[in-house]
Amino acid sequence: MEIGAAFCHNGAVAIGSHRREPLEFPPESAGREGPRGLVPLQFRRQPGGRSRRIGILENLTTGSLCERRGSAPFSRPAASGRRKGGVNDERIFMRYLVTGGAGFIGSNLVRRLEADGHDVTVIDDLSSGHFKNLVGFRGDFYPEELSRMDLISVFSGRPAFDAIFHQASITDTTVMDQRFMMERNVEGFRRVIDYALRHTLPVVYASSAGVYGANPSPQTETQTPAPMNVYGFSKAVLDNIAAQAAKGYSRTIVGLRYFNVFGPGEDFKGAAASMIYQLYRQMKAGKAPRIFKWGEQGRDFVYVGDVVEANLRALSSRRSGSFNVGSGSFTTFNTLVDTLRESLKLDVKTEYFDNPYDFYQEHTHADIQAAKEAFGYSPQTTVVEGIREYVRILESRGR
Ligand SMILES: NC(=O)c1ccc[n+]([C@@H]2O[C@H](COP(=O)([O-])OP(=O)(O)OC[C@H]3O[C@@H](n4cnc5c(N)ncnc54)[C@H](O)[C@@H]3O)[C@@H](O)[C@H]2O)c1
Repeated sequence: MEIGAAFCHNGAVAIGSHRREPLEFPPESAGREGPRGLVPLQFRRQPGGRSRRIGILENLTTGSLCERRGSAPFSRPAASGRRKGGVNDERIFMRYLVTGGAGFIGSNLVRRLEADGHDVTVIDDLSSGHFKNLVGFRGDFYPEELSRMDLISVFSGRPAFDAIFHQASITDTTVMDQRFMMERNVEGFRRVIDYALRHTLPVVYASSAGVYGANPSPQTETQTPAPMNVYGFSKAVLDNIAAQAAKGYSRTIVGLRYFNVFGPGEDFKGAAASMIYQLYRQMKAGKAPRIFKWGEQGRDFVYVGDVVEANLRALSSRRSGSFNVGSGSFTTFNTLVDTLRESLKLDVKTEYFDNPYDFYQEHTHADIQAAKEAFGYSPQTTVVEGIREYVRILESRGR
């Protein structure tokens, strides 16, 4: 039942039809301003105290309409195999901007948005992304570097987007050129926020567990950021900028502090791809998987499908803020190797070697309670299941 599943923002919409467990609003909230100025659609009380949405998809504040299937200009023809959504199978189609859409996480998100029938525009300078991640993409593409892009004038001649997913970033954490990292990551984000504020759009952006640095596990959002490299520092500044912009803003600005994400689409990241992918490549090349002695260090690894889901859910977050997005579990390097070995049916011994780093974070583990409370984030894939699925996909591609 899709109670309270759709909200019209003032010109933007969060789509509750994505929800597996939709937010429910009490009948008395009908027709009144919802959290942060979102406007719940009209509801009708049903037997048993539950409520049912009855109104047309109208923004009660501005009177703007949210499009339904068949109503131009945002609707798209139905694609086969798509999930049904919305009351009486109504679907709501949005126009999204995805920065970094040719990258690993961005392209998985773009695929999902398009599969759900939305119009997607991508900005990506292809510095670490690849067009092959977007084969089959149906939208528009701007091959621009964000920190030099004036989004307001570039998009001035067209209707504003409904929301922005900002994934673009230098993602190689070994880049030590501080000024370069800060310019690209921070100034790029500032441009995105400027555009969002101009058009009063909600923003979901990629932060990182890198902000925690040496903080102890489990990492929680209440810990003071203590980044160990300029990449983590740039993400901490993004969180600061977002928090400042969100003050008094009628939309939400939600940062997602991803932990160690793995899954299809990361091959083009090279050395910056996940440890799971690197170990897979070693084993496929007939080499022994190499990990630090004695493999009991570990991370919070999270499958990319759950990260995509977190982005979609974050659009209807109850509040702005920065939230952890991990699996909420700790997986040792030994378990990674064991699972890969079993999935690949390979009998190779692990090669342990001394950790050369003075500082090395031995343990990360996301506390995901805040994301659960704010937007119902609940990872669906265990790390072991994720690795098995990922290996199946890689093997089917012959990689
Ligand atoms: N993968 C992870 O484990 C992980 C963990 C924490 C945070 N993140 C964050 O998630 C986001 C996506 O990361 P990813 O793993 O998909 O990496 P990725 O490198 O595959 O994706 C980043 C994309 O952004 C593009 N890009 C970079 N700088 C740009 C700029 N200035 N202008 C326009 N495009 C630009 C790149 O070409 C690339 O396509 C990033 O913000 C990253 O910091 C990822």
